[in-house]
Amino acid sequence: MNMHITQDLVEQKYRLYHARINSALTRCFDIEKPDTLYAPARYILDGKGKRIRPFLTLLASEAVCGSSENAINVALAVEILHNFTLIHDDIMDQADLRHGRPTVHKQWNVNTAILTGDMMIAYAYDLALKAESSRHRELIHILNHANITICEGQALDMELENKQDATISDYLDMIAKKTGRLISAALEAGGVAGNGTDEQLRNLVIFGENIGKAFQIQDDYLDIMAADGKSGKIAGGDTINGKKTCLLLRSLELTSGKDHDLLQSVFTNKGISPDKVSEVKSVYERCGVLEETAELINRTTEEALCAIDSLPYAEGREYLKGFANMLMKRDF
Ligand code: IPE
Ligand code: IPE
Ligand code: MG
Ligand code: MG
Ligand code: MG
Repeated sequence: MNMHITQDLVEQKYRLYHARINSALTRCFDIEKPDTLYAPARYILDGKGKRIRPFLTLLASEAVCGSSENAINVALAVEILHNFTLIHDDIMDQADLRHGRPTVHKQWNVNTAILTGDMMIAYAYDLALKAESSRHRELIHILNHANITICEGQALDMELENKQDATISDYLDMIAKKTGRLISAALEAGGVAGNGTDEQLRNLVIFGENIGKAFQIQDDYLDIMAADGKSGKIAGGDTINGKKTCLLLRSLELTSGKDHDLLQSVFTNKGISPDKVSEVKSVYERCGVLEETAELINRTTEEALCAIDSLPYAEGREYLKGFANMLMKRDF
């Protein structure tokens, strides 16, 4: 049966589940002492996170004919794991701002940020063990695999910063690991919580890998192109830090002369001063990379949609597709 779920219905469900996830998250880390351990965890979870991964977990459970109630602890585990990666990522990227507020290591200090992140990993696993499911071994394996893969991706991200001959293929491999795997794991774990079959889980993973890829490409795009303040991060942070983003790698191929020299300097000097970010942005606007990138995001999202055609619960499947389309159009 083909069911039409409008974009309005998808947004409505996203808002509803977003509120449900947030209210469950406020009950996590409600522990008084030591304050320098638990307060930073409450702080990061209190920020304006989009809750994309836990939403996907709940939808995946429903799409294999399970319930979202049974998947809620798994969804929280995934979101807490994600927030641990954000805390440590901000240390590694020397980022001062997240969700429009000082990052954890700026608000407290680096040691506190490392320690809180470590504790959040264990807390996440404990939540997964509390899930209403007979498949805990699988759930823990998925989270472990995702966690190890993110670390690989983050290591590759750092290696790329020092690699002069970095290619788009290096970039794609790196983002599949640092971002794609947690998104596919969110869906896979939701599928397990909903007691899906192996084949259903495989399809959810392919769907997740593709939307994860589109999502990170868009994150790179928004890092420099988002309207002022909308990303909640320092605008142009990737350029300032000389990150090898898809915009930088591809526009190096598309430009020549002065434009190319400017981009090459971001590449070779491993960054650029903040006052030069707007010049880099103008090059991106001129060279055609923005159109190409939008096209790549669309194409990758389309590939994602095909993967889940065979999921059993038509309404659940259409919500997943609708949310993928909503993500493709995001501007925050
Ligand atoms: C940020 O993820 C890290 C990336 C993988 C790009 P999100 O953009 O989902 O972060 P929050 O949770 O909404 O802050
Ligand atoms: C996100 O990459 C990767 C992880 C958090 C694991 P980014 O470094 O691009 O994420 P943001 O832009 O800081 O959120
Ligand atoms: Mg970062
Ligand atoms: Mg990073
Ligand atoms: Mg980014």
